[in-house]
Amino acid sequence: MENRIVIAEGDITIEQVDAIVNAANESLLGGGGVDGAIHRASGPELVAECRTLGGCRTGDAKTTKGYLLSSKWVIHTVGPVWRGGSSGEPELLSSAYRRSLEEAVRAGARTIAFPAISTGVYRFPPGKAAKIAVRTIIDFLKAEQGQNIDQVRLVCFSRASVDCHRAALKELLPA
Ligand code: APR
Repeated sequence: MENRIVIAEGDITIEQVDAIVNAANESLLGGGGVDGAIHRASGPELVAECRTLGGCRTGDAKTTKGYLLSSKWVIHTVGPVWRGGSSGEPELLSSAYRRSLEEAVRAGARTIAFPAISTGVYRFPPGKAAKIAVRTIIDFLKAEQGQNIDQVRLVCFSRASVDCHRAALKELLPA
């Protein structure tokens, strides 16, 4: 299991995987942060396809082609805005990871890269978010449909984010 989850520091737009996950908003029409980076790298056809999807609810995920990106697909998911932690944010963040993995399996992607969903503009505490992400991914990879995924990469944009995810992995998947 441990070699099927990789934590890396870097820019998700240059990841060599079948699918990258975008931390989008419910409009799916682009934004700042990783959403802006992915749309810039993928080109204008990405937002054109997103326009046909009719938005995406928080906790859900929808798939488009990757266009100019090296990954074949972009899986757009919407994480929750942090409102203190008692408005269902943990469950919605877990759902965003799980639905993205379900979309990857449905598309036939065997390798997938995630950013740290909701931990930027949406202000989800990074340590809590990392534990939710790692726990959700471990549970999915252990389940039947998880057998279709060879590797999940958690692509962190800062050293601090790497440390959060490494700590979560150490706690939830003791070697
Ligand atoms: N590669 C990997 N990770 C990145 C990149 C990148 N190129 N750019 C930013 N990140 C990281 C951020 O440092 C943060 O850890 O992605 C994580 C998620 O941050 P945001 O992009 O701000 O996403 P989120 O917190 O989910 O907020 C989503 O922001 O950009 C808008 O349209 C988006 O409204 C939506 C909201």
